[in-house]
Amino acid sequence: MSVYRLPKTAPDLLYRLLEEREPHVNISHRGMPTWKNHVKFIAGHPYAAWYLIRSGRDYVGAIYLTALGEIGVGVLAQWRGRGFARAAILALMRKHPRNRFLANVNPGNAASIRLFRDMGFHIVQQTYELRST
Ligand SMILES: CC(C)(COP(=O)(O)OP(=O)(O)OC[C@H]1O[C@@H](n2cnc3c(N)ncnc32)[C@H](O)[C@@H]1OP(=O)(O)O)[C@@H](O)C(=O)NCCC(=O)NCCS
Repeated sequence: MSVYRLPKTAPDLLYRLLEEREPHVNISHRGMPTWKNHVKFIAGHPYAAWYLIRSGRDYVGAIYLTALGEIGVGVLAQWRGRGFARAAILALMRKHPRNRFLANVNPGNAASIRLFRDMGFHIVQQTYELRST
């Protein structure tokens, strides 16, 4: 179900996903946004497609696709290890076919690296960053 069509459920679940993220999985996200900024970010429609992942009546995670073909996926800790991320990625790629998909993954995020490698993705670049703040 598209995030943009669940104005109450989606912000709640997406905020919980952010709260559960450990530092070793983050790339651009540093620290929690305020609730107000979180809602504003969603309202800005930042991704080409953005869905909640549902199992039966439970929303268990979220997945997005950017205009550049980058996939981002997150599953709530209590629902991990049941194949939801893999199934969601396959469904997303089927629904939005394109020649090339990408996934930006923190090099310390072993679960994600294995997930994408197992699905046939291979590493094409390593991005280095220098921050002044
Ligand atoms: C990475 C993440 C999305 C995986 O979700 P999930 O639903 O548990 O993954 P799945 O059950 O579909 O697992 C599929 C494959 O991913 C890999 N994987 C998943 N969890 C793993 C773990 N803890 N350690 C190693 N490999 C793991 C395995 O290859 C697994 O295949 P297998 O079950 O046949 O071994 C989830 O751990 C998560 O939300 N992490 C925090 C957010 C994040 O890192 N997002 C990725 C940024 S793009």
